[in-house]
Amino acid sequence: MKQKALMALSALALLSFQTAPKKTASASAVNKSNAATPAKTTAGNAAVMERGKTVYLTQCLACHQVDGGGVPHLNAPLDGATAVTGKDKAKLITIVIKGLKGVELDGEFYSNAMAPHPEMTDQQIADVLTYIRNSWSNKASAVTAAEVKAVRAKIK
Ligand code: HEC
Repeated sequence: MKQKALMALSALALLSFQTAPKKTASASAVNKSNAATPAKTTAGNAAVMERGKTVYLTQCLACHQVDGGGVPHLNAPLDGATAVTGKDKAKLITIVIKGLKGVELDGEFYSNAMAPHPEMTDQQIADVLTYIRNSWSNKASAVTAAEVKAVRAKIK
């Protein structure tokens, strides 16, 4: 009995010894991929931000201005706006697709209307929202084309 237990124990020890190098190997593989991910993500983000900026300059600039400050009493600012950096991405996506009119935003009313943009692709909306969520003083998570697609399907 005692011997069996001892054998089992040494087998276990052997097993853990054998798996140990594997673990380190996979751990270093994870570390390697972790090290690669930020670089990749940064490059990806830079490309997304570049695309988003192009969309912003062509579709949103006229009303929201280059600094995202909007026009007092006319067009809502995007810089520092609660909804722009908020967790509710569906709300933002809906605003871009459906537009907005006469709604109180951060305690202000704007006499202009936010134009609906149903013709924009999921990718364009994702890019421009990622851009406005990470421009000026804003800092928030990215919006993906898949998220836009899901919201568009719901609000159609
Ligand atoms: C014709 C002018 C106009 C254009 C073009 C326009 N917007 Fe707007 N936007 C507005 C106005 C006006 C409001 C405020 C509407 C209200 O008060 O109901 C607004 C509101 C918003 C809001 C809500 C802000 C908040 O505080 O909740 C977001 C987000 C937004 N716009 C994003 C965009 C994006 C992105 C684009 C480009 C794809 C864009 N807008 C193009 C005029 C415009």
